[in-house]
Formats: sequence, C-alpha cells, structure tokens
Amino acid sequence: MQQTNNKYYSKIAILLHWLIAILIIAMMAAGIWMADAIDVKETRAAAFDMFQLHKSVGLTILALSLLRLFWRFTHKSPDLPLDMPKWERGAAHITHWLFYGLMIGLPITGWLMVSASPLGLPTLFFGGPEVPHFPAFSALDYAGKELWEGRFEEIHEIIAFGGIALIVMHIGAALKHHYVTKDDILVRMLPVMKVRPSDEAKEK
Ligand code: HEM
Ligand code: HEM
Repeated sequence: MQQTNNKYYSKIAILLHWLIAILIIAMMAAGIWMADAIDVKETRAAAFDMFQLHKSVGLTILALSLLRLFWRFTHKSPDLPLDMPKWERGAAHITHWLFYGLMIGLPITGWLMVSASPLGLPTLFFGGPEVPHFPAFSALDYAGKELWEGRFEEIHEIIAFGGIALIVMHIGAALKHHYVTKDDILVRMLPVMKVRPSDEAKEK
C-alpha cells in the first residue's frame, strides 16, 4: 500500500521547480550554441548578445535556486512512497542534492569565469546595472587571468554536461514512476493535476 503522510509539494516549491527547470534547459542549449557560434564570423554578433543574456539569466537562476534551497530547508518535502525500494530512495536523494549543487555551482563557476577573464568585459544585468565581478583575480597578470578563466570554463562545462545526463535520468525516473509504477511522484510536482487516492493508484 502506498502511504505518505505529507502528499504535496507546496505551490512555491512547484513554481520554483518548473521555472528553474525551464530556464536551465534553455541555458544549456544557449550555452552550447554560443560557445561555438562566438568563433564563427557570421554568428559572432548574435553569440555576443547571447553571452550577455546567458550571464543575466544564469545569475537569475542562482537567486531563484538559493530561494529554492531556503524553501527546501524550511518546508518539508512530501515523503517518498513507503514501498519504494531502498536503492531508489537513495538514488532520488542523491539526484536531488546533485541538482541543488548544479543549480548553484553552474552559475557560480560562470560568474568566476567571467570575473577571471583577462578581457574584463562588464556583466550588465539585462543591460542595466553592472554586476560586480569577484575581485580575487584583479591582481593577476594576463596569463594568470587566462589560466583561471580556463579552469572555471572547464569546470562550468563539466558540470553542465554532467547536468544533462542527470536531467535525462531525472526525466526518465519521473516518467517511469508515472507510467510504470503508477504512483504520484510526478503528479505531486505538477501544478495542475491532483494526487490520486492511494488505493486507486495501486489498482491501475
Ligand atoms: C544554471 C545556469 C547556467 C547554465 C545551465 C549554463 C550552461 C552553460 C553551457 C552548457 C555552456 C556551454 C559549455 C561549452 O560547450 O563549452 C556555458 C558556457 C558559458 N557560460 Fe554558462 N551556464 C549557466 C550560468 C552561467 C553564468 C551565471 C555565467 C556568467 C555570469 C555563465 C557564463 C558562461 C560563459 C562565459 C560561457 C562560455 C564559455 C566558452 O567560451 O566556452 N554561465 N554555460
Ligand atoms: C534542469 C531541470 C531540472 C532540475 C534542476 C530539477 C530539479 C529537481 C529537484 C532539486 C528536485 C527535488 C525537490 C526536493 O527538494 O524534494 C526535483 C524533483 C522532481 N522533479 Fe525535477 N528537475 C528538473 C527537471 C524536471 C523535469 C523535466 C521533470 C519531469 C519530467 C521533473 C520532475 C520532477 C519530479 C516529478 C520531482 C519530484 C520527485 C519527488 O516527489 O520526490 N524535473 N527536481
């Protein structure tokens, strides 16, 4: 029998989950495109604009993710079904905490990367106020800045590509729960559908 004593994610948790998810997936696509397009003459100008947008949206994701993490620590998440195998619970917890690491680690490494860049291009938040860069690199010479920029670029890329694998697994798990196990795991993260009564879920 499927039992949980705390069935729903709160509206704020659901809103933040989907907003952050959509933004991250769009940022992955945009990041991969612009990293190549900046080296092609015909697409360089558009890629430059995309870099600016990427930085602003990325910093917005950082703020939303910190809010989400605060919400996570101050509001209980619904329990996992009691009949879920132990390994699956472990996998779900690890995946979710890796996601929090990604949601914060990706924007921070991006921010560090542009802070270390020897080009010293400003980061204007959606074309408006200038976002300060980390001052730690300002004393370095050109080569030192380039070295650190390259290191953060590599970490940013590794987290991003690791994240793509994680997203694929996460979507696979959500669909498996909905269509194979037929429990409420997906539904309770959706803004529109109601959690099924537990016995109804088991009959299906
Ligand atoms: C959750 C937020 C973010 C996601 C999902 C994301 C994702 C990506 C991805 C997938 C790439 C392409 C990697 C490659 O193929 O080399 C990329 C590149 C880049 N990102 Fe982000 N990023 C995020 C946040 C940020 C932030 C906040 C900044 C800066 C403030 C930033 C700066 C950059 C820069 C400068 C590049 C280009 C690196 C290059 O020249 O190859 N990113 N990002
Ligand atoms: C970049 C994209 C995504 C990120 C970063 C992300 C992140 C997360 C995180 C951190 C949680 C754990 C919530 C908690 O603290 O308990 C979660 C839960 C969940 N996510 Fe995502 N998610 C993403 C995309 C998706 C997509 C596309 C789907 C659907 C196909 C999905 C379905 C779910 C479901 C159903 C849960 C609830 C699991 C449960 O009830 O234990 N997520 N997600």
